[in-house]
Amino acid sequence: MYSALILAAGSGERSGLAYNKVFHPLRGIPVLKRAVLCFLADPKVEAVVIVGKPEEANHISALLEGIPYEFVAGGATRQESVRLGLAKVVSPYVLIHDGARPNVKQDLLGRLTQTVVSKKAVAPALPAKETILLVKNHQVHATVNREEAYLMQTPQAFATDLIREAHALAWQAKQQFTDDATLCFQMMGSSVAIVAGDSTNVKATTTIDFTILEEII
Ligand code: CTP
Ligand code: MG
Repeated sequence: MYSALILAAGSGERSGLAYNKVFHPLRGIPVLKRAVLCFLADPKVEAVVIVGKPEEANHISALLEGIPYEFVAGGATRQESVRLGLAKVVSPYVLIHDGARPNVKQDLLGRLTQTVVSKKAVAPALPAKETILLVKNHQVHATVNREEAYLMQTPQAFATDLIREAHALAWQAKQQFTDDATLCFQMMGSSVAIVAGDSTNVKATTTIDFTILEEII
C-alpha cells in the first residue's frame, strides 16, 4: 500500500555528537535501524526508501544488512532530501519519516494508513502542553492560543501524487517549509487531517532526547 521514505541525510548538529545522530546506538541498536524496523513490522509497507549522504551510503548498507531498501542521495535541506526521495517512490501512498525518530508504534501507523486513503494528507500531532510564545530579539511578540497549538510529528502520510506535486511547486517557487504537512497545506491549499500523535515518538535532537529514548524504548 505505501512506501516508507526515511530521512537520514542530516548532520545532527544539535546532538553535539561527532557523527550523524541517526547512527547513535540506543540499547545497542542505532536510531536509524530502529526507525526502519518499525516500518518493516507493518504488513502494509511495500518498499523502504532511505535518503542519506552519499559518503554514508556504505555505513547505512552495513547497518541494514539483510533489509531490502533503496538508497537515494539527499540534499542540503530536509525539504530537498524529501523531494529527491519522492522521485523514487512508486507506491500510491508514502509515509515520510525522520530517521531520527526510532520509536514509531504500530497503532500510530494504523491511524495514518487508515486515514490517508480518504484524506490524502495526514499528520500526527500532539496538543501543546505548554504555552507557545513567538519571540524576536529576546522579546515576546505574540502568543498562540494554546487550545489551537499542536506539535507536529512524523511519519506524515500522503497520496504520492499530491505530495510530489506540492514539492515540485515549492521547489519552483523557492519556498522552504519545516515539514511536509505545512508544505502541502501552503502550496496546494490541501486540507491536512490530524490524527493523535504519540508522546513516546520522540525525535532524537539534543542530548536529553537520547537519555529519554534509552529509557522508553
Ligand atoms: N535530514 C535530511 N536531509 C537534510 C537535513 C535533515 O534527510 N539535509 C533528516 C535528518 O537526518 C533527520 C530529519 O531530516 O532524520 C529531521 O531533521 P533534524 O532533526 O533537523 O536532523 P538534522 O538536520 O540532522 O539535525 P540538526 O538540525 O540538529 O543539524
Ligand atoms: Mg535539521
